[in-house]
Amino acid sequence: MISEKLQKAINTQITAEMWSANLYLSMSFFFSKEGYDGFAHWMKVQYEEEMEHACKLANYLVEREGTPLVDKIDVVPQGWGSPLEVFEATLSHEKKVSKMINELVAIAEDEKDYSTTDFLSWFIAEQVEEEATALNIVKRLKLAGDCGTYNVNNELGARK
Ligand code: FEO
Repeated sequence: MISEKLQKAINTQITAEMWSANLYLSMSFFFSKEGYDGFAHWMKVQYEEEMEHACKLANYLVEREGTPLVDKIDVVPQGWGSPLEVFEATLSHEKKVSKMINELVAIAEDEKDYSTTDFLSWFIAEQVEEEATALNIVKRLKLAGDCGTYNVNNELGARK
């Protein structure tokens, strides 16, 4: 059975993942309105991935005889700038999430709950990938200029 402290921390992370989902949905709506359908699609897929992260954490709590909660989700930013600024905000947000996951691992290690450290290793790898992907898009948008941004938009529209 998982400890109260770890259960609380994982529930906080569930809320953070759902906030992340809403953040990317807000970005998706913004891109849609601006006519960047490819970026809007990419962000919609990202929204779905964040909801999967929340559900993965919830399922783990159930497996460990804990109780997952759906808590209040704070409002996310609604207005955005250029595509480059949006993806820079994405990278910055993912760096923050990586720190949160590391803090969760630290709590699990402190409690010698090695099932949880093992479970969280998936999230650590996922964060490395999410940061690298966002960084790659930021670099490409910096190189691209206005015309190239349109091409990157078209490419990201193919995200599965
Ligand atoms: Fe669930 Fe993008 O971290």
